[in-house]
Amino acid sequence: MNLKIEEYKNIIDDEIKSKVIGLIKNENSDSILAKLSLNNISNYIDILVKSNKLYLFTCELDNNTIGYAVLADKPEYLISEFKHMKFKIFFDLILNFNIFTIIDIFLSLLKIDLIKLNNKNREILNKNLNLNLIAIKNSYRSKGYGKAFLNELMKLFSAKDLFETICCETYSNQAESFYIKKLNFHKIGKKVRTKGLLTVLAKKLKH
Ligand SMILES: CC(C)(COP(=O)(O)OP(=O)(O)OC[C@H]1O[C@@H](n2cnc3c(N)ncnc32)[C@H](O)[C@@H]1OP(=O)(O)O)[C@@H](O)C(=O)NCCC(=O)NCCS
Repeated sequence: MNLKIEEYKNIIDDEIKSKVIGLIKNENSDSILAKLSLNNISNYIDILVKSNKLYLFTCELDNNTIGYAVLADKPEYLISEFKHMKFKIFFDLILNFNIFTIIDIFLSLLKIDLIKLNNKNREILNKNLNLNLIAIKNSYRSKGYGKAFLNELMKLFSAKDLFETICCETYSNQAESFYIKKLNFHKIGKKVRTKGLLTVLAKKLKH
């Protein structure tokens, strides 16, 4: 499989950035990020590539960017690294009447969203590598690219030897079966959101 994986550190050129924004808007349209204005998503990506606690990757097939992934050393950095943008994000969500998303952010800040995770699994989630977002362009799905992309990312992080486990969260049954059936993740609990329960999954990076 001729999949090329790129990581962006410190800078990202405008062409790649606009491709990543397109993937966020089209393929992860349920995410909080996709609900922000183009300007704020662009600022978010600038912070993401400058952070040494967050990671942005794309995968390319024949010079065509078909997927992207965002990871964090710990889930808390997905909030703390963007603290300078908090008012911009808040006003964006208010202007677009995304009240439920705002409630979800508060549930998360107050850690109320973790009530359905036992203490052991909370610790696993909070202290390990977090796969925040991943997507493959719709027309390229179900061809094994998602599995190959994530396997490469896990190999990369496993070689750094900083984390025992990788965790992720999803509402989607299809994504759940991608993680469980294709990549051997297992469920460790649920997170509470206004629109329902998010499944939390984990997989050991080393055996
Ligand atoms: C999840 C995703 C990255 C998998 O990429 P992929 O290239 O399709 O992955 P693979 O080909 O390796 O595996 C395909 C499996 O993913 C699952 N899947 C299929 N369509 C899916 C979809 N629209 N959304 C989520 N998972 C899907 C199925 O289990 C599928 O197995 P099958 O082809 O045997 O039916 C991709 O489907 C996607 O971008 N989905 C939308 C965004 C998303 O849900 N991201 C995960 C949460 S952030």
